[in-house]
Amino acid sequence: MSSIKAPRGVRDILPDESWKWEYVFAVTRKAASDFGYREVHLPVFEHTELFSRGVGETTDVVEKEMYTFEDRAGRSLTLRPELSASMVRSYLENRMDRQHQPAKLWSAGPMFRYERPQKGRYRQFWQIDFEAIGSQDPFVDVESVELSLEIFKRLGLSNLEVVVNSVGCPVCRPVHKKALQDFLRPRLNDLCETCQARFDRNPLRILDCKNPSCRALTDDAPGTISCLCEECSEHFEVVKKGLEMIGASFRIDNRLVRGLDYYTKTAYEVLSGDLGAQNAVCGGGRYDNLAESIGGPHTPGVGFATGVERIVLTMEQQGCSFGEAPNIEVFVISADGPSREEAVRALYDMRRAGISADIDYTGRSFKAQFKAAGGSGAVFACILGPEEVASGQVTLKDLRTGEQKSVRRAELTDFLKTRLR
Ligand code: HAM
Repeated sequence: MSSIKAPRGVRDILPDESWKWEYVFAVTRKAASDFGYREVHLPVFEHTELFSRGVGETTDVVEKEMYTFEDRAGRSLTLRPELSASMVRSYLENRMDRQHQPAKLWSAGPMFRYERPQKGRYRQFWQIDFEAIGSQDPFVDVESVELSLEIFKRLGLSNLEVVVNSVGCPVCRPVHKKALQDFLRPRLNDLCETCQARFDRNPLRILDCKNPSCRALTDDAPGTISCLCEECSEHFEVVKKGLEMIGASFRIDNRLVRGLDYYTKTAYEVLSGDLGAQNAVCGGGRYDNLAESIGGPHTPGVGFATGVERIVLTMEQQGCSFGEAPNIEVFVISADGPSREEAVRALYDMRRAGISADIDYTGRSFKAQFKAAGGSGAVFACILGPEEVASGQVTLKDLRTGEQKSVRRAELTDFLKTRLR
């Protein structure tokens, strides 16, 4: 029988990597709280309708990428492909409109999309998501961009580019759609099949096609900004001014349309120059009609999500620091027989005194235990053989300097505490 492997597009985050994730979460958590965002834990699956109505029926995410299944009672459920729809659902369901507005919330966890796996693109991936719900103030959009940049700055990321656009609203979008279709109609046969299929249903996405010949054909296509209504235009002006005011460097990209249908007004991405094809470390924007599309009252909102795998990949590529790898402080080395029991006692004494410590459980030779101690990253090896037990002492070896010292067993934890702290 062949052994079972993980499904395509998912990966195990092993200990050599998971501590780096912890660092990313710690830095992000602190930045979130510095900006007044509070954490929410959201369910991993939701009613399918939340995403089909919230994210949009004609998006790739809803049409092709969702992990949808029926539960035993025949309800259609979907593993969340993103968090904004869930966050707005939670805001409405828990009547967060009664609290101070906007409700500034963040959440992290795995998302699921049936995409073609490649470097930086997985079928299960982690997002850290930030949403400010309940305000239409353009300065909240500015804060959203600034928070993403602040997180990347604190993580030490460089070579990033911020691209910003305004995708308009239900007032100006039909005007743009018509202008775009008029422009594309004579070129339709030369566009790729995907773009042709998008022409009637979602022509905006044609601007986002990565196919070089489609890009060339749409080079002079009318961008969203040229058709903005007065309200969207004014909103965009304040966002741009706000970003300049706080010193954020950004590029306006009139082709940036994002892959989710709920966006209105501001849309933005932060791109890494070190990631290759899947270069977005974060994406976000405003979604003033999302709450209504899932059955709630009109509730403006803006936010972004950043992909943890892509952050870690970029940090590794750029040689960023992840802080110190968490290692135990003491590795206990023992022999068989009565000294083994004394070694186990010493192990628990140390742990109870707040010293991180470990021991070998595989009955290995002294030599092999020393090797394991070296590989564990511990600062000290604590040797408890028959001789040490007989004399009421332990031998401590500083694994960094090789220096060895005998310490009275009764003084072991006090000695270690002064040496380790
Ligand atoms: P998104 O652009 O689809 O936006 O995803 C946000 C980020 O998640 C991307 O920039 C990328 O870093 C990461 N990401 C997306 N798909 C994958 C994948 N297959 N593998 C690895 N990483 C991935 C959203 O999801 C919106 N909900 C963001 C938002 C929040 N907009 C407003 N509020």
